[in-house]
Amino acid sequence: MTDALLQQLAARLGPGGLVTDAGDMAGYATDWRRLYQGRPRAVLRPGSTAEVAQAVRLCAQAGVPIVPQGGNTSMVGGATPAGDGTAAILSLERMRGLRAIDPVEMTMTVEAGVTLAAAQAMAAEAGMLLPLSISSEGSAQIGGVLATNAGGNNTLRFGNARDLVLGLEVVLADGQVWDGLRRLHKDNTGYSLRQLFVGSEGTLGIITAAVLRLQPGVSARASAFCALPSVDHALALLARLRRRDAGALYAFEYMSGASVDLVLHHVAGTVLPVEPALHYVLIDYASTGREEARRLLEETLEEVLGEALESGDLLDAALSQNEAQRAAFWRLREEHAEAQKRAGASVKNDISVPLTALPECLAAASEACAAVVPGLCIAPFGHLGDGNIHFNLVQPEGMEGAAFLARSEELMAAVNAVVQRLGGSFSAEHGVGRLKTGLMESWRGGVELALMRRVKAALDPQGIFNPGVIFPPGQGLTGSD
Ligand code: MLT
Ligand code: ZN
Repeated sequence: MTDALLQQLAARLGPGGLVTDAGDMAGYATDWRRLYQGRPRAVLRPGSTAEVAQAVRLCAQAGVPIVPQGGNTSMVGGATPAGDGTAAILSLERMRGLRAIDPVEMTMTVEAGVTLAAAQAMAAEAGMLLPLSISSEGSAQIGGVLATNAGGNNTLRFGNARDLVLGLEVVLADGQVWDGLRRLHKDNTGYSLRQLFVGSEGTLGIITAAVLRLQPGVSARASAFCALPSVDHALALLARLRRRDAGALYAFEYMSGASVDLVLHHVAGTVLPVEPALHYVLIDYASTGREEARRLLEETLEEVLGEALESGDLLDAALSQNEAQRAAFWRLREEHAEAQKRAGASVKNDISVPLTALPECLAAASEACAAVVPGLCIAPFGHLGDGNIHFNLVQPEGMEGAAFLARSEELMAAVNAVVQRLGGSFSAEHGVGRLKTGLMESWRGGVELALMRRVKAALDPQGIFNPGVIFPPGQGLTGSD
């Protein structure tokens, strides 16, 4: 990146649009987990779609790689540049506009840099629900959430991020802007191009704005924190809740006893609302009805949990009596990633398997990991209703973090062997990023990876968008060089 190019970029992006000081770039240069230390040549902070397009055009002409970055909350190093000092990070954080919101259409059009929490609040203010909720929603931005097809706590009811997108605006690798911000619930005019960009991890284009599908605002919620004897019992409880009122079941989140213990230990003010157990679930029942709906919701949940207690599916349960208690239950769930970070070095496996294979998967993976590093802390938790568990492993007491991380590959291989045997995925919601590119050949190789390469080569022939992400290293865009 030449000084002349930096000067051009500074002129186009205006005050606050270009950062080149190493200290000021530090926060952008490393990932949330501190797994990667990138070395960007500059951080570009465009304030509009036109500025993104100009910045991309200039970088493309000079062959400068661009790493798009949202809230920088990737779990797999998906928004961190290489350490060679050649790339520019393009942060969308200054694009925070709400372009439109409509309670009749039930859509909102937001810019990429709006945080997920802010977008949820905008929808709530207009009496609607943006049904996407993830632990990092206070920092994660809409552009990144869509580029990684985020999942989270409400996927079992409303789907992943891709299910909520009606339209997109994207800056392409040559600086052209594709205006696909259509607000149509039905549109079968050719390929669904927007779905190519969702989940592409910034490798095909830069999402600058999106039309999101909303839901009616929730007027009543009832949550229950439950202690269970096993994962099999958790699946039985899930089936019971779905039989009773699948539409009201907004979340069904699993937490292992070991993982909850880490939260209780590392996060001040957290309290276990039930008897200690080896397995817990957090249930969110919700309704869009009026005030009476709350009583009905609570009665239904109480009844189902009562039956489950009687049949032995449940050991103990606490029903939230008010919003503060509900928030406290959710805090116990949402602080898992933070608690594990504080507990030391961890190895994350974001796996999914068919629901009925989950008990076997957790048991076999636990056994395999304990054989690799005896005494390690096996702390799984996650979105059980989707068959997606964060099978996270924390360093054993008395072992150095670096020594534990040196065993990462072996531990991930042990988990993945079980997951592959059971027909699952090695990355259910966190993506491939930089961390998991080495797995793509053996899991998605052959026709599938070749097709992905053809799409990449067609949309980004120079390979300037987010190099080093998704594709196995050292094979170029065709896979043969
Ligand atoms: C979560 O569901 O809380 C996250 O995806 C975080 C994690 O895997 O650590
Ligand atoms: Zn998750």
